[in-house]
Amino acid sequence: MEHRILGERYELVEQLGHGGMGTVHRAVDRRLRRTVAVKTLSAELALQPEFLARFQREAHAAAALNHPGVATVHDVGEDAGGGSAEPYLVMEYVPGRALSQVLADGLLPVAQAVDLAGQVLDALEHSHRHAIVHRDIKPANVMLTATGRVKVVDFGIAKALSEVATRLTGTGVAVGTPAYLAPEQINGAETDHRTDLYAVGCLLHELLTGRPPYTGDSPFSVMHQHLAAVPPAASALRPGLPPAVDEVIRRALHKNRADRFADATEMKAALDAAAGAAPAAPVRTPTALDPRAGAVAAGAPAPSPAPPRGEPAGRAARRWPARVVFRPTAEGAVALLGCFLALVISRSEVIEVGRFSHVALGAAVAGAVLLPWSARLACAVVWGPVAEAVAVWSELSRGSLGWDTRYVVIALLLGAVAALCFAAGYRDERSGGFALIAFWFTGLTSVWFFLDDLHKIGVFYVLLLGVTLAVGAQVLKARTRPPRAAAEPRGTADAAHAAAGTGAAARG
Ligand SMILES: Nc1ncnc2c1ncn2[C@@H]1O[C@H](COP(=O)(O)OP(=O)(O)O)[C@@H](O)[C@H]1O
Ligand SMILES: [Mg+2]
Repeated sequence: MEHRILGERYELVEQLGHGGMGTVHRAVDRRLRRTVAVKTLSAELALQPEFLARFQREAHAAAALNHPGVATVHDVGEDAGGGSAEPYLVMEYVPGRALSQVLADGLLPVAQAVDLAGQVLDALEHSHRHAIVHRDIKPANVMLTATGRVKVVDFGIAKALSEVATRLTGTGVAVGTPAYLAPEQINGAETDHRTDLYAVGCLLHELLTGRPPYTGDSPFSVMHQHLAAVPPAASALRPGLPPAVDEVIRRALHKNRADRFADATEMKAALDAAAGAAPAAPVRTPTALDPRAGAVAAGAPAPSPAPPRGEPAGRAARRWPARVVFRPTAEGAVALLGCFLALVISRSEVIEVGRFSHVALGAAVAGAVLLPWSARLACAVVWGPVAEAVAVWSELSRGSLGWDTRYVVIALLLGAVAALCFAAGYRDERSGGFALIAFWFTGLTSVWFFLDDLHKIGVFYVLLLGVTLAVGAQVLKARTRPPRAAAEPRGTADAAHAAAGTGAAARG
């Protein structure tokens, strides 16, 4: 079959797609004998005076870009074969699918969406450093290769087009896809690199939720929302999305450029930090006891031709808001032992004051129930009654020792150590349970020394309730809070953790 040949060099083999500005073909460069992508622009555009010069100028600028995330521009020209000049652009052929096609197959795992947006930001960081603003970042202009890498196409084209459109319409409105247009593109103001960051915000929203932030019946309605509407929270459509990711999108979508991220690097850093916050963080090995891990892994759809590198984290990202993780850890085992001891103590007659046996029994049951959710919280609940019983048996009691200075000092020191242990256990999500156990022993021994009347059981009940509520609230907050993980090399930490075989079961 005869193929069309442009500029006596590029043989158009197959049409890859058709967009607002023209048609993209897979082609063979006969001179260099390689596959390329050729975009022919509609003949109408070629009729616009000066368009060709502008188009060539922008293509030359874009050709200076050299980055793995940017589809390289090889050549630009016009073919006079059909009578009128038909402008075309020759660029690197990217095997793979545009994100618009990938999205049509369904939602991506959060970690993958974040990874892809991060790669787009890397590419933009490079182009912005070369003073090239893309101006038409959208899923159709981001190609995903089989190895999970991203290549942004169409650098420079939007600029050439917007200049023509500005002249034709008096505004830049005619150019770009309404769903991703920044306010400054709509009202004809100056654009700069932050215009692209706005579009990445829209892109990320769509990658996470399947739809851009603003939709409507008409382009006009969408543009009006870009100018005036409060951006919707992506988490409203994607439950469980870390609030930090919402916040990144919200910031990128500021109407006023000065309120957005200063540059692509800053936005990428914020996104990475937000991703660290994603409950996805640990790359966990599912165990027989972790029914959810297995189910998610088995049921995870293949979102793209080849699972990108963020995939394991992506799977983990699809977890329940209240993370219940059954994994044997030292902290979990100690919490279980505490449940057992609290149960034994509740059945024995060591302390026959007030309702202590009921409280100990309640603590044992509560600890067992809370254990799968948070071993730390379980430790805080069950080791209280155990420590109280031990304190009662302890010889360090003022009743028998009196106000002997030595013992007062020891009791005071124990009290101080208890405060430190509580602070450590309150903060440490991974294995704070151990510190909380130490808190109970030192703290109650100290309390027992100073209060040797009947009130101390009341003091104990108040402490038990207070500690349970404080740690419980902190665990809850930690599970919903944006991560502190930006700086922490997660992978390494988790790998080390896994290697040590002590991955916090039920972290928190
Ligand atoms: N360099 C390329 N390599 C491979 N396919 C491409 C390339 N550039 C574009 N395409 C494909 O061609 C389609 C049409 O592109 P385009 O004409 O720019 O329209 P739009 O970007 O509006 O979809 C894209 O969606 C993409 O699937
Ligand atoms: Mg395109």
